[in-house]
Amino acid sequence: MNPSLYNPPPHKQTFKAGEVALVGAGPGDPDLLTLQAYRFIKQAEVVIYDRLVSQEVMALLPDSCERVYVGKKQADHRVPQEGINQLLVDHAKRDKKVLRLKGGDPFVFGRGGEEALFLLANNVACHIVPGMTAASACTSYAGIPLTHRQVAQSCTFITGNVQDNGALDLPWHTLNDQKQTVVFYMGIKSLPIITEQLINAGRSENTPAALIRKGTRSDQQVIKGTLSNLDELVTRHNIKPPSLIIIGDVVDTFTDDSLKNLGYLKATESVTK
Ligand SMILES: C[S@@+](CC[C@H](N)C(=O)[O-])C[C@H]1O[C@@H](n2cnc3c(N)ncnc32)[C@H](O)[C@@H]1O
Repeated sequence: MNPSLYNPPPHKQTFKAGEVALVGAGPGDPDLLTLQAYRFIKQAEVVIYDRLVSQEVMALLPDSCERVYVGKKQADHRVPQEGINQLLVDHAKRDKKVLRLKGGDPFVFGRGGEEALFLLANNVACHIVPGMTAASACTSYAGIPLTHRQVAQSCTFITGNVQDNGALDLPWHTLNDQKQTVVFYMGIKSLPIITEQLINAGRSENTPAALIRKGTRSDQQVIKGTLSNLDELVTRHNIKPPSLIIIGDVVDTFTDDSLKNLGYLKATESVTK
């Protein structure tokens, strides 16, 4: 069978009235925006944005742009997803250039697919603009390579968000390869379950583990430990979301001294062990 050919999406077209641009704002540092994202941000007439979009990115919007905050903390959805979908359609039908600005990448744990499907079902044209996802950007800013020759040959992004019944039902047996990096999004609340289940699945208690809070921002924090003590370190330092958890030998690729030499620790509070 011949492979199907798809043209790339028409991002280079102008942002027209009555359209929605679903744009990834990256993890915080505005320098990590794509040029496409920047172009849509500069033309927006209405922005519908989440809690994870940084103030520095918001500051790039035109002064005249109408701002609609739809929140979203775990278990505190200021506007439920159905309401957000409808808001996008309503503003587009007002003939506005509507920017849906989301932290990271809209298609990585961002519900961007649901919003795009709803827009299409309502005959609203939609641009989809990728953003730098937290796993990639935050680890770079913390000096942790996601893969490293002979240390980690694969990398998995997974959600640590618990279900409504409090359970965290994940395929733990697929996460026990010592040469695999595992990145948990939304995992801080379930950190004790995560570390326990990974050890039960066969990962060594001494596997290096890190937590990055507010990655790429001026107040980024990095905590490094092991599977057996990360939870205790996080509790001791009273770390809150938004945080990423990185499990795997890559965490220890660079020593604190080499990170200092690379200039890393200047803007990063690193608490180790
Ligand atoms: C709903 S998910 C959104 C992910 C986003 N779409 C992305 O691609 O990065 C929210 C989670 O992403 C992670 N996250 C996003 N930005 C972060 C940051 N600057 N520092 C640390 N973690 C971040 C946290 O795990 C947070 O709980």
